Amino acid sequence: MLPIVIAIDGTSASGKSTNAKLISKSLGFTYVDTGAMYRTLAWFCITQKIDVNDPKKVAAACAKWKTTLECVEAQTRLLVNGYYPAKEIRSAETSAAVAHVAAVPKVRDWMKKLQRSCTKFGNLVMEGRDIGSVVFPDTDFKFYLDATLDERKRRRSAEGVEEDLAGRDQRDSQRATAPLMIPLGAIVINNSGLTAEETSQQIVAHIKQRLSQSTAGSA
Ligand code: DC
Repeated sequence: MLPIVIAIDGTSASGKSTNAKLISKSLGFTYVDTGAMYRTLAWFCITQKIDVNDPKKVAAACAKWKTTLECVEAQTRLLVNGYYPAKEIRSAETSAAVAHVAAVPKVRDWMKKLQRSCTKFGNLVMEGRDIGSVVFPDTDFKFYLDATLDERKRRRSAEGVEEDLAGRDQRDSQRATAPLMIPLGAIVINNSGLTAEETSQQIVAHIKQRLSQSTAGSA
């Protein structure tokens, strides 16, 4: 049987990571944070003094960097030259650079191949911006999370992070390649008034219902 992929897309700070982690725990699936992969390239460009506003240079860096993909405790990690920059990819500098890197078509092609290869780790809960639309458009399990801008800002502040969420969403939605969008067939959940537990329980219930329908259909 082919691995199952649960695609979780949505705006910045809409609760994708928290929910994807809760869902992957609940189902025993591997969690894949694709934003972390783009952040890792942004961090790499910063350390190599590559101008993230120069798409050719960013694409060239992505064609050359030495990476390894591993799965530790049911979460994938992208290492560069054997190093996993867990803290560095969350810095304000990386956050400001990442949307530029993520807009480069050759980078997106490279990432798509890497992200598709994650099925070697089994069933997945993968979060990002284009998972249900581009990376796994054929999956039957697509969810799109959103919340009001005020609520999303409040969540980021509570984490001690101040960032231009509206600006990043605008860049992610307006880029030419694989823009942020509601994938065809996705279940949209606005979780402004919901806790992460409530949101993830809703999603797990949908998944279980769909899984039982497909088992009944194939019996
Ligand atoms: O989810 P995040 O904030 O860690 O994502 C970082 C950036 O990467 C964000 O600007 C959107 C972009 N991204 C993307 O374009 N496609 C993905 N599948 C995941 C993230």
